[in-house]
Amino acid sequence: MIDLTPDRKTLDPIEIASRDEIGALQLDRLKWSLKHAYDNVPMYRQRFDEAGVHPDDLQSLSDLSKFPFTYKSDLRDNYPFGLFAVPREQIARVHASSGTTGKPTVVGYTANDLSNWADLVARSMRASGTRPGDVVHIAYGYGLFTGGLGAHYGAERLGCTVVPISGGMTERQVTLIQDFQPTTIMVTPSYMLNILEACHKAGIDPRETSLQVGIFGAEPWTDSMRSEVEAAFDMHAVDIYGLSEIMGPGVANECVETKDGPVIWEDHFYPEIIDPVTGEVLPDGEMGELVFTTLTKEGLPMVRYRTRDLTQLLPGTARSMRRMAKITGRSDDMMILRGVNVFPSQIEEQVMATGGLAAHYQIELFKSGRMDAMRVMVEAEASAADEASRNAAARMLAKRIKDIVGVSTEIVVGDPGSVERSQGKARRVVDNRGEG
Ligand code: DLL
Repeated sequence: MIDLTPDRKTLDPIEIASRDEIGALQLDRLKWSLKHAYDNVPMYRQRFDEAGVHPDDLQSLSDLSKFPFTYKSDLRDNYPFGLFAVPREQIARVHASSGTTGKPTVVGYTANDLSNWADLVARSMRASGTRPGDVVHIAYGYGLFTGGLGAHYGAERLGCTVVPISGGMTERQVTLIQDFQPTTIMVTPSYMLNILEACHKAGIDPRETSLQVGIFGAEPWTDSMRSEVEAAFDMHAVDIYGLSEIMGPGVANECVETKDGPVIWEDHFYPEIIDPVTGEVLPDGEMGELVFTTLTKEGLPMVRYRTRDLTQLLPGTARSMRRMAKITGRSDDMMILRGVNVFPSQIEEQVMATGGLAAHYQIELFKSGRMDAMRVMVEAEASAADEASRNAAARMLAKRIKDIVGVSTEIVVGDPGSVERSQGKARRVVDNRGEG
């Protein structure tokens, strides 16, 4: 893999400013943001008043802990535009996420918000090793999802040649990679595996493609998956994190020279880690729920938004800004089997570590008598598709999950291609436990 470390002269000065400078900027912006929310969004005014706090009470960054949390349900309850802090006419674009239940969550951006977003995605891409003039293949979905358009305007802002292909039509993705010679691809890690498979089917050696860097996010993925994709394509795989409520892709991004967890762009987003049960703020380094307060958002300011993503805050390395550890999972994705907490990513680690299995997997939860049980659907690699190899792989995977994760599972090793393929975010867990 070639060295893609960006020249420090090309970074935004704030990325490598002193912690004091970053803290001072955050405090100024946080004061503005709390006041903006309180003055313009009835829900925030009511919540702050009920909690007996006023934006003027924020004298230091740690005073933020006095302010109330905001939840995903607040967006639903104020559907569609009730949390916007500017008149609707000043909203230049909306995005929305479908959500599994009820109303979608709608988010809105002013022209300034869109410009900041493009800057931050450009910064994220630069951190990933992409340079102005590169050809960028964007296979995140375009439309109401923030992935496609978010990546798109960032790539344009950086000065790249953009291929806005969106998700789907996997064979065509491979053809265009061959024809247009992109050096960067932006896509979910699970969809990248489909592209890999389509390369093999087309008789193309993925290591021979022009791709040098993949900017992967929108769903959890493990370091084992990183190694697999990096080896398969002879490319760098870096992690991009974001959520629509806070902005979209580019809230945080890994640096290609360190690959040690996404750097949070702290000049625009103030992170906290809290105990998800008590709501208490935890010190850096401790695992908990990630909470964000936006520092510059005009259209939809968010105060202490509960992401439900579980991670820890880590000190800066390649940049002065803090990092977040790769997300192990969302509190919503946590499964509890006979008292043991299990995340899909822990299963992924073991699938990747077991010989003879492809990287595709899906977890099914079902009832076995009154108990919850788990079945892991995986695929034999084409080279290990005979009965004996499959049985051996199944036994090995069951043993690994039992020994390392601590739960008993049923393993089904299907034919190559038998596990559901994703076009965007993979559906890792299918819950067939029914009601009650
Ligand atoms: O997924 C935004 C995005 C698009 C990020 C493209 C990166 C690339 P939402 O649809 O609102 O927005 O989903 C946000 O996805 O709270 C996490 O649970 C999960 N997520 C996003 N990025 C990562 C990541 C976009 N790098 C939710 N690792 C978040 C793990 C991620 N989980």
